[in-house]
Amino acid sequence: MDFDSVIRKRASNRNFGLKKPKIEKIMELIETANTAPSPGNLQILKYLLIEDEEKIAKIAKACRQEWIKKAPWVVIVCSESSKVDIMYDERAPKYIKHHVGAAVENLLLKITNEGLACCWVGAFSEITLRNALNIPESAEIEVVLPIGYPSKIHKANQKPKPHLYTRVYFETYGNSFKEDYRKIWTD
Ligand SMILES: Cc1cc2nc3c(=O)[nH]c(=O)nc-3n(C[C@H](O)[C@H](O)[C@H](O)COP(=O)(O)O)c2cc1C
Repeated sequence: MDFDSVIRKRASNRNFGLKKPKIEKIMELIETANTAPSPGNLQILKYLLIEDEEKIAKIAKACRQEWIKKAPWVVIVCSESSKVDIMYDERAPKYIKHHVGAAVENLLLKITNEGLACCWVGAFSEITLRNALNIPESAEIEVVLPIGYPSKIHKANQKPKPHLYTRVYFETYGNSFKEDYRKIWTD
């Protein structure tokens, strides 16, 4: 798929088919996350791969999202922040969030390109998930990624995004208009 198509086709897909992606495919996805920019090139993300059905059911419960049960794989993205904390002090929490976002978006785009299905899950009970999966306190649970092949019945389309007109500013914050560029909003 060409780059723009991947960007446009990426969509949250919560409906999985029965076919299960091979571990090699899941590792390809993780590899793309691993190429994301990171603060000071520190590698602080850990990826917990789950295929055990009972564990996936526990994850669904911790997220209170039933649809997750049907995922053949769940990847849990965690961060271990100590090195970033030391190097970047009060900027560290922001930097970690930025890095997680970059890594997860890489992974979602690869998922789209490979014809797989996934949805970013950020709503979960941290303590339930930690206990269910024995995740140590040193690791922050960042994102839950249920992954599979898409259901053939339910197609997922990216949600429409509001027009950029109110969110692009020229020269001063809040200024949405510049005479020279009048044309870009009329296309
Ligand atoms: C930080 C974050 C947390 C999210 N958490 C959830 C979630 O817990 N459950 C869910 O179904 N979708 C979740 N989503 C997916 C969004 O609902 C989805 O991206 C949004 O509705 C736009 O749809 P699209 O991804 O198809 O463009 C989350 C997305 C982000 C970026």
